[in-house]
Amino acid sequence: MEEICRIVAIVLQRMGQAIEPGMTTRELDEIGRALLAGYGARSAPIACYKFPGHTCISVNEEVAHGVPGPRVIGKGDTVNIDVSAVKDGFFGDTAATFAVPPVKLSTKKLMDCAGRALHKACAVAQSGYPLNGIGLAVEKEAHKHGYKTIRNLCGHGVGKTLHDEPESISNYYDKRDKRLLQRGMVLAIEPFISEKEQFVDETADGWTLKTPNDSAVAQFEHTLVVMDGRPLILTLPD
Ligand code: CO
Ligand code: CO
Repeated sequence: MEEICRIVAIVLQRMGQAIEPGMTTRELDEIGRALLAGYGARSAPIACYKFPGHTCISVNEEVAHGVPGPRVIGKGDTVNIDVSAVKDGFFGDTAATFAVPPVKLSTKKLMDCAGRALHKACAVAQSGYPLNGIGLAVEKEAHKHGYKTIRNLCGHGVGKTLHDEPESISNYYDKRDKRLLQRGMVLAIEPFISEKEQFVDETADGWTLKTPNDSAVAQFEHTLVVMDGRPLILTLPD
């Protein structure tokens, strides 16, 4: 898990650094493909879902599962990249939202909030803590800044499959969820912070998810191991 998670973290970082206005999302995905191949890793979206791309790249009004293609990245765009991959039977999953300068203040605020939401959600992923404390932490951070969270996209266990037990780690406080976190659980935590809307819909391509009114959304994701005390975050590039 450490190896594949470090790989996806490096690939995400390098793809983020490679973003330039004028390039297509397919060109950006190609960078991801080459990097994953160089590390001997396979794209999880392809391996698990026959996704038409090596990574998910979602621009502006697209929230998640964006299909790399001819779309040209422009100045001021936000680009969400989600890199998940498998090596030697183990999966890692990480994502981040990048902004192409010039960055609007409202975009920066939303991205900062999503980053903090991930940080705070990771901090409560500890052995013996309630699993729904993760959604509570995400929701609190969002509400504090007047934002919403996307309710029909959630985190998940990850390990020998991309989407493993525990399923449905919601990005809001679900009081009916009585599960407790246990040492050794591996989680992908991925808060989606939204300016207005709380739900995403599938679009005509059958993959890309969008909010109904194109409300801006930012997301960050880490894979971590639940421990006694602070978790071990695996998706760090070094
Ligand atoms: Co992901
Ligand atoms: Co995930």
